[in-house]
Amino acid sequence: MSRPNGLVISIDGTAGTGKSTVGRAAAQAMGYSFLSTGGLYRALAYTVFAKHVDAADPKAVLETAKSLQFRFERQPDATLKMFVNGEYLGNKLQLDEVAQTASKISTYADSRAVLTEKMRQAGQDGGIIMEGRDIGTVVFPDAEVKIYLDATAEVRADRRVKQLAEQGVQTDYGQILASIKERDLRDSTRKASPLKPAPDAIKIDTSNMNREEVIEAVVKEIKRYAA
Ligand code: DC
Repeated sequence: MSRPNGLVISIDGTAGTGKSTVGRAAAQAMGYSFLSTGGLYRALAYTVFAKHVDAADPKAVLETAKSLQFRFERQPDATLKMFVNGEYLGNKLQLDEVAQTASKISTYADSRAVLTEKMRQAGQDGGIIMEGRDIGTVVFPDAEVKIYLDATAEVRADRRVKQLAEQGVQTDYGQILASIKERDLRDSTRKASPLKPAPDAIKIDTSNMNREEVIEAVVKEIKRYAA
């Protein structure tokens, strides 16, 4: 398929595999835009939270999803800055309550369909790398290049502990590992768009790779397609 601005590239995979870091760097190398689609789920969760909508009620969440207008502006670092009903939500989307609610509402098929449509609009002209859980399987099953990143739960827990330690937050490795395993299970067994590699995805196990090696591997796959 030919798109005006270039290819659509999907990067899916479990949490903590470096999808965002790698996707952003690869987008910079290609002169593409980068969108982390978890942001749309987080924006919906934030709005549900801020407007005191009952997160356990799929119909109420769907109405909230329909009320959201998204606008994206490309930044010099390739990321797409997201405005939700005209507002930049920034760090509010990183709150733990927001992440928890996002995880819950991402199991609702009707709300997923609304957000999926927004993602398609953002990416249809190509020249974009989109990171998420179902980009290569549901959002863009016709993406030209599909990457699926994975790493063992132990490696991901270790990375998370180190990342938090750098921010001065001391954590318990066992607890982090258990929480990663719990999220993996929920993401991969939910009925609506479960996390799984597309049949035509290139799978990369990042357990024994550093950041630069993963970026290099992903850019190589993209260039191989484009050549
Ligand atoms: O990647 P993240 O942590 O920002 O994602 C937030 C939540 O949204 C997470 O629980 C998984 C869900 N999500 C999803 O179901 N499908 C996507 N394409 C992206 C995120």
